[in-house]
Formats: sequence, structure tokens, C-alpha cells
Amino acid sequence: MEHAAATPLTARRGGPLAGRVRVPGDKSISLRSLILGALTVGETQITGMLEGEDAMSTANAMRALGATVERTGETAWRILGVGVGGFATPRAALDFGNSGTGCRLAMGAVAGCPITATFDGDASLRSRPMRRILDPLEKMGARTLQMSDKGRLPAMLQGARDPIPISYEAEVPSAQLKSAVLLAGLAAPGETTVIEQEATRDHTERMLKHFGATIRVTPLGEHGRKITLQGQSELEPAPIVVPADPSSAAFPMIAALIVPGSDLILEGVMTNPLRSGLLATLREMGAAIEVLEQRNDGGEDVADLRVRAGALKGVDVPAERAPSMIDEYPILAVAAAFAEGPTRMRGLKELRVKESDRLAATAALLRNNGVEVEIVDDDLIVQGRGRAAGGGLVATRMDHRIAMSAIVLGLATEQPVNVDDTAFIATSFPNFVGMMRALGAEFA
Ligand code: S3P
Repeated sequence: MEHAAATPLTARRGGPLAGRVRVPGDKSISLRSLILGALTVGETQITGMLEGEDAMSTANAMRALGATVERTGETAWRILGVGVGGFATPRAALDFGNSGTGCRLAMGAVAGCPITATFDGDASLRSRPMRRILDPLEKMGARTLQMSDKGRLPAMLQGARDPIPISYEAEVPSAQLKSAVLLAGLAAPGETTVIEQEATRDHTERMLKHFGATIRVTPLGEHGRKITLQGQSELEPAPIVVPADPSSAAFPMIAALIVPGSDLILEGVMTNPLRSGLLATLREMGAAIEVLEQRNDGGEDVADLRVRAGALKGVDVPAERAPSMIDEYPILAVAAAFAEGPTRMRGLKELRVKESDRLAATAALLRNNGVEVEIVDDDLIVQGRGRAAGGGLVATRMDHRIAMSAIVLGLATEQPVNVDDTAFIATSFPNFVGMMRALGAEFA
């Protein structure tokens, strides 16, 4: 997934945003449906799939490993899986483009197969830490045959012929790490356990259960969980309905909160509690967000969200909320600039190892546009003044969420905001600019 040329964009203040939209399918669930679908025996049908670049690179990797992955209609896909442990040796390196989730979950799945595969990605993915994933996979019997300095891609991984079940206590709160260990554990005899001190998104656990795996989840301490998977049983295909991505919905949602007079409805947004920290925070800030038509769709809770512009106040966001809104801090920081008073977002260490160093990138995006912002240890502090000057140029650093945050900022600043490259938005939200335009946003 190479991007030939940068695609700059300028976002400017215009009239209110209004309408009813459905953002694309959840990225986490879409990627899991491809990887877990490839591990079933038989045909998995998926509707609502995110047709963005991260999903396409993961789909290509599953094909290279022997699964059949086909598009059967708009957002409708079908996968013929090869069974747990059934991947074939790929002919070339697997290129995950910008997708850390696709790459890391696939590493887990490959670790449980007697094959060797090379994992690679774009410059952003090549800068991200992989040791956190490979360490537990090596304990399970996989071997890292080649890897560049400092635990970065490209990496050649040899899966285990006889995977060893382990009990693993995660040192970082990461759903990707948890998922990689569980997916390797599918091929191991006996029980594989992951202990997390802070619960992270549970889509892998839910989907494994949906496909018939025996998996127990028990609470641990105040915020943690213990997850135990029984290995060496086949997964049975079952249809998947992908709900709208709350992390993508966050962008039009905050645009509607900060562009005066806006009134939007976001349809079918997933409200899984482990993804809902942003909603809780925005409510504390005084945001007018109504949850309408709550329902369950394919195993996940979803709702329509009505969002109206209004005054916001600064808040203190506790560190323990970070896992439930880890991808939403850049856009929350934009909302915080338009609030009255300071917002302190605590415990953002993990933001430094996302598609970019998002802590630095978020601070720079606001600072370049006249917002007072400070990083203290792992906390981000934004001085909200109910307005922002704009007029700056934002470097998006191959990071889709920085690009979308900058665009939303520019819809409410006094001067337009220039964004150096919007190409990476296609990884998670291909029609973002078009959808915002349809809601009334103005771009140059
Ligand atoms: C994801 C987990 C999170 C998140 C990413 C998607 C997932 O990463 O930032 O966008 O689907 O499991 P970490 O697990 O590294 O925190």
C-alpha cells in the first residue's frame, strides 16, 4: 500500500454540519473477522466490512497464507478458512502497510503454524515496537529468525510445530498483544491464559466465542481481566455483522460539537463499554449527545448517536480510562481546545507508539494552530479557550487520526488549517472527506 504522492487539504470554517450518516465498519472487528475467518474450517460471511487500506492489506496477507478472501458485494465479504494451524508458507513477505493490528494479530496466528513468514509494512509500521508481541510468541515456541535492529520490522517468524500453552501477564495494556497470544494459543494443547491489569478491547474474545471456542473471561482486581482459552479445537464459521466504528465516528462527532449550530445523527455506532471512554469524557465536558435506538447487532451493542453543538468545559481524564479511548485522544484534544478551561489527559504513554508518536503529533497540531498545550510526563494538557486561531500547517506523519483531527480542527478555527497529507485517511475511513463535505464542511 504505497502512497505515490501526498494529498494536501485545507479545512475552513463554514456553516453548521447537519445530516444523518453511517461511518465505515469498525477496524478492529473487520481485521479480526479476516484473520479469525481464515482460521475457521468453512465459509465465514461478513457484512459491514471496513473497505479501507488496513483491511485490504490484511485480506491480502490472509490470501498469501492460503485462505480464500472474496468481496461478494458492497461491504460484503466471504472467507474460506484453512483451519487452526493450517496456514501455508507465503511466497513473499506479508506487507501489512500501515496496519499494526493486522500485522500483530497475524503474527500470533502464524506463531501457531509450522511455517515461516516475513512480516513487513510501511515506514510508520517499520518504526513501531514488535518485541512486545514476539517475546510471548517465542515463549510459545515460535522463533524470530531475522529482525532489524531494535525489534522493528521486517521480521521473519518461524511458527511452532508444537505450540506451548502459556500463562502470560501483559506488561502493557494492549489488545493487539492479548490477541496475538490468544490466536497462537488456539493451536496449543491445553489452556492459554492472558492476564491484563487494565481491560482492553475484547473483540477477539467475543469473536472466538462466536466461532465456538471455549474461552473464559473473569474480572481481576479493579480494572483487570483474566482470559483463558482452551486450545486445539477447530473454529466454526458464523456470520459477522461489523458495526460502525466508534473511533471513526469520533471525528464527525467532535466536528458537530465544535461547529456552531451543528446537529448530526451517527447511525449504528458500536457502544462496547471497552471502546466508550470518549463518550463518557464528552458527557463530563457537557456535550449534548443522545443515545438513541440502542440495540444488539451481531453480538455487539450499537446505537444511533445524536450530537448537537454546544458549550464544553475542560475536564481531568483519568489514566485508567485510556484503554477504552486510546485512539480518540488526538480528536479529544481538539474538542478540549474549544472547551472553557484546561483539560488534562493522563497516562498517555501508549500514544507514543501508535501510527506516529501521537502524543507529540497531537501537541504539535494544536500548538501550530495557536492552542496552548503542554506535555508533562505522559499527560497532555490543553488550555481550552472556547476558540482557536488556526492558520497553521499540520504534519500528519503517516497517521490517519492526526490527519482527521487536523481537518476537524480547521472546520472551527478562525483561520483555515492546512494539512500536509490526507492519503493515510484511506487506511480506516476512505470516504471521510466526502462524508464531511456532504454534512456541510468546506475544503480547499
Ligand atoms: C487495536 C488495539 C489498540 C488500538 C488499535 C487497534 C486492536 O492498539 O490502538 O488502533 O484492534 O486490537 P494496542 O493494542 O497496541 O493498544
